[in-house]
Amino acid sequence: MKASHRIAGIVAVVVSSVFLIAFTYAYDWFPTQLTPGSGKIDGLYKLLTAVSIPFFVLIVAFMVFCLVEFRVDPSDPPDKDGEPIHGSTRIELIWTGVPLLVILLLGIYSWVVLDKVEAKQKNPMVINVTGQQYIWNYEYVKNGSEKLGVKTSSDLVVPVNKPLEFRITSLDVIHSFWVPAARLKRDATAGVVTPLRFTPEKTGSYDIVCTELCGVGHSTMRGRLKVVSTADWVKWLKAQKSGGAGGGGTPGGGPDGKQIFTSNGCGGCHKLAAADGAGTTGPALDGAGLSADELRESIVDPGAKIANGFPNVMPATFGKSLSKEELDALVKFLAEAGK
Ligand code: CUA
Repeated sequence: MKASHRIAGIVAVVVSSVFLIAFTYAYDWFPTQLTPGSGKIDGLYKLLTAVSIPFFVLIVAFMVFCLVEFRVDPSDPPDKDGEPIHGSTRIELIWTGVPLLVILLLGIYSWVVLDKVEAKQKNPMVINVTGQQYIWNYEYVKNGSEKLGVKTSSDLVVPVNKPLEFRITSLDVIHSFWVPAARLKRDATAGVVTPLRFTPEKTGSYDIVCTELCGVGHSTMRGRLKVVSTADWVKWLKAQKSGGAGGGGTPGGGPDGKQIFTSNGCGGCHKLAAADGAGTTGPALDGAGLSADELRESIVDPGAKIANGFPNVMPATFGKSLSKEELDALVKFLAEAGK
């Protein structure tokens, strides 16, 4: 290889690396930074990208060089062997030692960042998060030492600048609780409770996503994290406590069947105009004309009778996750709306 070619190659690798790194840094690819940890994780991500790019460019450049430099001479016979070589201890030490050092340093730095991001905070608000096909249930356990005892399956409403500790589990298959704005996700597994901690710093409405393929309704298993001022949160809490166990009750007290249908994600699989359900995975409820007893059986024990042409995929957990009052309200609503 001529010295001038070698220099040109090195220049090409350096210039393209710098250009690619500058390109990835010039755009903001990330969602809102909701927590102090979000910025730290974005910083780590950018560092990993910046370190990976020169290696990527170097490897591709070397591959192209080898393709050109060592290609078969057209005048040779097609079955001619390549020249035998004996390897090089020096090169092997370099290509083992350098990546080992880089990975070790990045690993240690990642550990330091994650340790900071996930550190325990004083007096957190504890919220139990339970995944089930295809809805997230929240139970506000306590705020510091104050007991809360509020349950909801609709929006997760939290006060701004309050350290949150989620205790995550599942009623059925494995789900994964993900808040992209907080840059954190955690698997929800039945029989295991795993913690996730962050402190939202900005009011607003943010995505909650299930990021583990958990069944036909996986893509509908989404929610909203609403971060509000402390005063608004106290108001919200009061309304929840007076609105009945299900949260968001009817004016006459007691849970609202339509709200239960919506907040449990039923519309993800069942068509029902009265509650904006548009799913086609399960049988349509519009005009189904089912009796209250039939409806109740299909909710509590969905496998008992299967509508023609539909798969037996409805979760059998609603009998457990809905209270008796909520189930009664849902059945009543469906019997009326599905006439
Ligand atoms: Cu739950 Cu995907």
